[in-house]
Amino acid sequence: MLQELWKIFFYLVFLFRQCKYGEKVTAGNLNRTQYSGKWFFLAVAAESKDSLVKFSAMDSAAFLLAPVKDTQMLQLKAEMRLSQSMQCMFRHWTYHISNETQELTLEGQPYLKTEIFVKKDNECIMFLETQDKGSETFRRLMLYGRSPTMSEYGRQEFEHRAECMNLSDIFVLKQSRAPCEI
Ligand SMILES: *[C@@H]1O[C@H](CO)[C@@H](O)[C@H](O)[C@H]1NC(C)=O
Ligand SMILES: *[C@@H]1O[C@H](CO)[C@@H](O)[C@H](O)[C@H]1NC(C)=O
Ligand SMILES: *[C@@H]1O[C@H](CO)[C@@H](O)[C@H](O)[C@H]1NC(C)=O
Repeated sequence: MLQELWKIFFYLVFLFRQCKYGEKVTAGNLNRTQYSGKWFFLAVAAESKDSLVKFSAMDSAAFLLAPVKDTQMLQLKAEMRLSQSMQCMFRHWTYHISNETQELTLEGQPYLKTEIFVKKDNECIMFLETQDKGSETFRRLMLYGRSPTMSEYGRQEFEHRAECMNLSDIFVLKQSRAPCEI
């Protein structure tokens, strides 16, 4: 009953809010001090369930975002806990910030475009990844939080934001075990 009431409440909140989310930042303008450090991958939204399947192999994932000294680069490291074995798997990526556009590009993936969205309270960061050519095409919005837990409000807000971007399928990481250390 209470849960139903919450649902109605959130529905009204987001109906009122419409699609007014304006926190896109270019990578060049991202406050590196504020947004560096540890993040937990909480959820991902995409246009279809198919493009979410591979994420279900992950139980949880902890990320570390760090600027590379004296360069226009960002290093992203991850320890992912795999759903089947519960083992940790390490991965890392290097992002370049374009001098002209100030946008992010991922090393080794020339067709991938990454846009950053933040909330002023510094509690979450979102990457909108778009790839419209190459072997795989997709649009997906990834949500990372400073804390591994996501409030019901945070979840509803993410769903609504994703819907505003026409990304209606959502996968929330199960996190049945604590995230791996990073
Ligand atoms: C960047 O973030 C740090 C830490 O939150 C803050 O002290 C600093 O004022 C911010 N810089 C700018 C330019 O907003
Ligand atoms: C971008 O600018 C930086 C510093 O101004 C410079 O070191 C770097 O070579 C430039 N990169 C490109 C691809 O032009
Ligand atoms: C979402 O889809 C609608 C209808 O197809 C379209 O008008 C709108 O521009 C799309 N929005 C985005 C962010 O792609």
